[in-house]
Amino acid sequence: MCGIVGYVGTKKATPILINGLLSLEYRGYDSAGIATIENKKIIVKKDKGRVNNLYNLDGINNLNGTIGIAHTRWATHGKPSKENSHPHMDNSQNFAVVHNGIIENYRKLKDFLISKGYSFLSETDTEVIPNLIDYYFKNGVHIHEDKFLSSVKLAVGDLEGSYAIEVISPLFPDEIIVVRKNSPLVVGKANGENFVASDIPAILSYTKNFYLLDDNEFGVVSKDNIKFFDNNLKQYEKNLKNIEWDASSAEKEGFEDFMLKEIFEQPNSIRETIGSRFSLGKPCVFDDLDISKEYLSSINKIYIVACGTAMYAGLAGKTVLEKLCKIPVTVDIASEFRYRNPLIDDKTLCIYISQSGETADTIAALKLAKLNGAKTIAISNVIGSSITREADYSIYTHAGPEIAVASTKAYTSQIVLLSILAMHFAELLGSCPLNEIENLKSDILDLPSKVQTILDDTTKIQDFAKQVYTQKDMFFLGRGTDYAVALEGSLKLKEISYIHSEAYAAGELKHGPIALIENNVVVIGIITDEKLVEKSISNLQEVITRGAKTLVITNQNIPNSHFDFVINIPKTDSVISPVLSVIPLQLLAYYISKNKGLDVDKPRNLAKSVTVE
Ligand code: F6R
Repeated sequence: MCGIVGYVGTKKATPILINGLLSLEYRGYDSAGIATIENKKIIVKKDKGRVNNLYNLDGINNLNGTIGIAHTRWATHGKPSKENSHPHMDNSQNFAVVHNGIIENYRKLKDFLISKGYSFLSETDTEVIPNLIDYYFKNGVHIHEDKFLSSVKLAVGDLEGSYAIEVISPLFPDEIIVVRKNSPLVVGKANGENFVASDIPAILSYTKNFYLLDDNEFGVVSKDNIKFFDNNLKQYEKNLKNIEWDASSAEKEGFEDFMLKEIFEQPNSIRETIGSRFSLGKPCVFDDLDISKEYLSSINKIYIVACGTAMYAGLAGKTVLEKLCKIPVTVDIASEFRYRNPLIDDKTLCIYISQSGETADTIAALKLAKLNGAKTIAISNVIGSSITREADYSIYTHAGPEIAVASTKAYTSQIVLLSILAMHFAELLGSCPLNEIENLKSDILDLPSKVQTILDDTTKIQDFAKQVYTQKDMFFLGRGTDYAVALEGSLKLKEISYIHSEAYAAGELKHGPIALIENNVVVIGIITDEKLVEKSISNLQEVITRGAKTLVITNQNIPNSHFDFVINIPKTDSVISPVLSVIPLQLLAYYISKNKGLDVDKPRNLAKSVTVE
């Protein structure tokens, strides 16, 4: 994630840049910075903390430069700190760069640049970019008369991963060069001044006229001119678009609510979680974990500890860890775990999941395990968060900031990361045939496009939501991982629609809860495990006989006529099926809440991060 802004014109750039960053804080907010050009030199002002802190930086209010670039960061490589904040400069201070995205091959590029005499001040992947530009500026075979543009093009040619980049240089003091791949970037056109931003809201108060950059397109933006070039640096014309959004819908990129935006971001957030952790035919890579085969062979249990949605992601993770690694896994609620003297010693591995990394109970549960000699791994979405500072090892979901209180994209990314971790452990232990791991890898790589397929048609879910939003109670049933996802679906519904709901293991129904089923009660069944189809259908039959209205989410061939609504989802390995089956459940909760006219993003009584017990 992260947000970027750029300005070139006749006004002081700094206030325009900071103002733009303030409207992008929803994309990231752990550090911020700007760079402008004054007296033929790049001046950088940056620090850890929120955008507003920039106003307190020494001398920032006296900067007169009329060109500049700016960045608000959501850390991916390197903790939030002044050194890791953007903009970054090359060693000769000829180029300043801000960057959104992840450079997957940055270690290789860094080694190359070090071998050429370059040194690095930060832990970021971004810092290789200005140094590569400088390297090519001095050593490249240039393919365009604009040597600045040509050097950026040569540098970008070496990058693998995703990026939206802005570059300025005192050697070319009137131009901002921009380029993107798999990360958004727009250029805003105005009179005698032009703007750049990762997202429209940053510059919407200055212009409504935008060029939307495509992948591998370069822009050279000056005060009176905007030129576009293709990947071979051939210049061409682009269409200007007029965008009449208001500021708040622009922040949500046209979605009505952050929750809906985050649900629709899942193909991409899952891609980011997978990142470069594995590819087919190659073992999983966890540079951030120092866990050996000897250590894994010595442990006799794994605890997964978390709260709420993160704990439900842990329940899905339990299945894949046990299946692949053959180590018993217990999933526990952090607030229970911390007070019940759990049996932990140096043969216990404890995994803590927290999107925010600030949940008080989860942090306390982690400290307890450390005191008892267990190794601890934190899975978080926020680099540098409290839990990651306490844990022995931290691995990140990289799902981007989650703004809506109800967690969606963090949940799917947590399951994906737990699955990759399980494959890594199994590869170390040799506990699972390699072809099974290979099949799972292939299924994980297919998840983003399968999630997209579900998101492409939401009409059935919207219809069902319209029919049931006035209900007082609902039930979610499933077996195995379908039970884990039933719990999450039920939680989503409760928290944003205020409808009472319960999730049960489908086989448990007749041991009590079935007494609650009467005419027109809504029961949602999830059926994705081939081995359990018949049993799950029988359990649903039991509620249909008692008058229930049923919705079934399935990837199996089931007789549609039995149920009121059936939503078909793509097939995948049952251990990761919650990543797909949860999508209709998230959408259902969302549309029910909208039908009731509720504030989806800020449900009553709830906060995004629970820092008290
Ligand atoms: C539900 C939800 C919560 C969180 C829980 C843990 O949608 O968001 O249940 O999952 O409060 O939060 P983190 O993951 O930040 O520790």
